[in-house]
Amino acid sequence: VTAPPPVPTLDDTPLMHSYAPFDVCFVRGSGSWLWDDDGNEYLDCLGGIACSAVGHAHPAVTAAVADQAGTLVQTSMLFWNRPVVDLARRLHEITGWGRMFFANSGAEANECAIKLVRRWAGDGRSTIVCADGGFHGRTLATLAATGQPTKWAGFEPLPAGFVHAPYGDLDAFAAAVDDTTAAVMVETIQGEAGIIPGDHAFLAGLRELCDDRGIALIFDEIQTGVGRTGTWWSFQGLGVEPDVFTSAKALGNGLPIGVCIAREAIADAFGPGAHGSTFGGQAVPAAAALATLDVLEAEGLVPQAAVKGETLAASLADHPCVTHVRGRGLMLAAVLERPVAAGVVTHGLAGGLVVNAPAPDAVRFVPPLTISPDEIAEAARRFHAALDAALADEDGGAP
Ligand SMILES: Cc1ncc(COP(=O)(O)O)c(C=O)c1O
Repeated sequence: VTAPPPVPTLDDTPLMHSYAPFDVCFVRGSGSWLWDDDGNEYLDCLGGIACSAVGHAHPAVTAAVADQAGTLVQTSMLFWNRPVVDLARRLHEITGWGRMFFANSGAEANECAIKLVRRWAGDGRSTIVCADGGFHGRTLATLAATGQPTKWAGFEPLPAGFVHAPYGDLDAFAAAVDDTTAAVMVETIQGEAGIIPGDHAFLAGLRELCDDRGIALIFDEIQTGVGRTGTWWSFQGLGVEPDVFTSAKALGNGLPIGVCIAREAIADAFGPGAHGSTFGGQAVPAAAALATLDVLEAEGLVPQAAVKGETLAASLADHPCVTHVRGRGLMLAAVLERPVAAGVVTHGLAGGLVVNAPAPDAVRFVPPLTISPDEIAEAARRFHAALDAALADEDGGAP
């Protein structure tokens, strides 16, 4: 048996240093579990950053991808392909309305939403009102929409036409809307900011504001969507409907696919040639998405996400240093009394748990929706052990 090659480092690979990967190289996944090239086993509560809807290497998704890859991969949207049409119909069924544009990532789905509402609004109305702390992607326009100035640094000039107001402050959003506004764009739960749920009054208030001013309401459901919060789209659980929304991440169970879904009256602002993407709407990611939606539905995983989320939240909270657990369904953050989340992530990895830290005091859990009750209990056990170790580090090793 030959030893695996050493784990790569930034210095010995020609990758740009835009990420600083942990010292772990995963080689295999199954369900909620990952294995590194030394054979160590990890319980994956991050799921490729909220992408693993039905678990790693789900046989139905694998078969759909393999079958499609062996049949037809790429023709462009200059022609029809069956999987994308079936997927659009399926998403329409789930949503009850809308026309779709398929892209390859969350940022691209948001770019589509931004371009669409600008063309729809016309009359010089191009401004999008976004939230402080919000995250919408890393392309230039979605970066401008992202309400995190630290991520803008060095990339200016950013595209004009984005303003920000404090998340949750309806009056500030109302004050930010003027004659140049095309849309308000927010997440229903701010994911990258640390899993911060928008409250119902705020989101319903935005709906009313947009109706009053004749502007569009865009929900970025890229992290919240595809069943994670207990309904297909989180807005369905809130009872607040947007005019346009975007999804990506879990839609293809890890294959790159994003979608912008808009009400017909807005979607019709795009005629032929208005927008495009060479890879958008191609057969393999569409087949993966269809298989993912089938598994979620057949196994009742969407409503179960709400129930499992309650169990996970209660289990995580059972530690004196966890002040509370916020989020909905299987999109949760354990909020810590002290800012040791980064240490929890490192100790978690060493102890066979994959999570991340969107904020210094928040540890994010976005596991596959297939996670079992036993795995939930094990995740909490490993999290508490990692938290104890991180606290011990802070205290200089004192018990
Ligand atoms: C809410 C939200 N919007 C947009 C994005 C960007 O998606 P992508 O990285 O696929 O471009 C993310 C990614 O984390 C996200 O969480």
